Amino acid sequence: MAGKFESPGSEARGRLGGTDFSRGKTLGRRAHEMIPGGAHTYAKGDDQYPEQAPSFIARGLGCHVWDLDGNEFIEYGMGLRSVTLGHAFPRVVEAAQRQMLSGSNFVRPAPIEVECAERFLELVPSAEMVKFGKNGSDALDGAVRLARAYTGREYIAICADHPFFSTADWFIGTTPMPAGVPQWVRSRTLKFHYNDLASMQALFDQQPGQIACVVLEPARLEEPAPGFLEQLKELCHRHGALLVFDEMITGFRWHRSGAQHVFGVTPDLSTFGKAIANGFALSALAGRREVMQLGGYDHDRERVFLLSTTHGAETHAMAAGIATMETYRDEDVVGHLYRQGQRLRKGVQRAADSAGVVGHVECLGRDCALIFAIRGQDGKPSQEFRALFLQELIRRGVLSPSFMVSYSHSDDDIDDTIQAIGESLVVYRQALDQGVERFLVGRPIKPAFRPYR
Ligand SMILES: Cc1ncc(COP(=O)(O)O)c(C=O)c1O
Repeated sequence: MAGKFESPGSEARGRLGGTDFSRGKTLGRRAHEMIPGGAHTYAKGDDQYPEQAPSFIARGLGCHVWDLDGNEFIEYGMGLRSVTLGHAFPRVVEAAQRQMLSGSNFVRPAPIEVECAERFLELVPSAEMVKFGKNGSDALDGAVRLARAYTGREYIAICADHPFFSTADWFIGTTPMPAGVPQWVRSRTLKFHYNDLASMQALFDQQPGQIACVVLEPARLEEPAPGFLEQLKELCHRHGALLVFDEMITGFRWHRSGAQHVFGVTPDLSTFGKAIANGFALSALAGRREVMQLGGYDHDRERVFLLSTTHGAETHAMAAGIATMETYRDEDVVGHLYRQGQRLRKGVQRAADSAGVVGHVECLGRDCALIFAIRGQDGKPSQEFRALFLQELIRRGVLSPSFMVSYSHSDDDIDDTIQAIGESLVVYRQALDQGVERFLVGRPIKPAFRPYR
């Protein structure tokens, strides 16, 4: 069986969605008084959604969620792409619950830490060692420190075309929101372009012998040009730098062994998170033994303080990780993601065609990890039209900042979504013709990274 949950089926679509978000708005006001930005993750904030949207999700099951006002939605986005199997996925919840009853944190390691490392290294055989953390940022920060220590260099090069790597200063200092990051730190992070070896060569020429590592997602919306990743690895090694793949999104979604398996290029270090534990807090830094072992003490070099936090090895997160990775091992999760993503992509294309908005609304990326491009009358990305599209989908029972499918999205869920998209795009066409302000309730969405208000 594919998804584990009963879909409500098309006949139930009438009860999906809603326009009354009053209880959520009331709680939202309290949240903003106590929590800067009203949420603990910027990507979940009010400014990322139209005004006519649920402010809080009270619960989720499979790919369905319910807000505080009792409105039900088919959800895409799935915990910022971490919930690959579906909300409250029984195998994962049961494993975490069972483990929790035996205690979650001890004064010495729990045996489950070894089991979790074994499961991970079985799935990602290109890695020789692994160390776990809580967030993807932890893993990336560990990779950067390790690379700097291993090479004795300060500069790092990151891909300018990939939007997010870490919450740490080495990355945040390069964004449009760098407040609080010292100039010295900002100056040590350089940028190159994807599929552009010359741009990386230029950085090596500019800072000879000073770049510790090159960090990129193996692929995002753009696929690697033939030989690009191989040549990038060769270029890095020729200049004494390490190659780091950020597999936060591609890991366990593009392939259960990561995009490094898809492209047959093994990086020196790679980072995983999100899909590794179906929404539980677990991330991983993996890579070559010779580099990774600097974080241990079986060597004569100076030691590196690699990932080490009080909650790093929380046992129920490990149990969730094991259950999730075993599900990838035992069931064709990734095949399901590709199939449902393809069904959705085709449906969006048909709907865009029939509403006359081709070129304005378009799916981008691999079927297993779709996002959508939204363009206004001038053909440029538009936050007003993005808000309108989300608003109309929400009204019809689809909550979708992206079209990220999960193992729990059934055919009926996808078909109901396509129906909602079709109806929403009719409104979109009218807004293109008559002006978006006539249809959008309230303010547009804003970019998450912005320096002011
Ligand atoms: C590609 C990529 N790398 C790293 C991260 C950081 O992960 P986390 O938010 O778990 O710290 C993210 C988060 O969205 C990401 O998308």
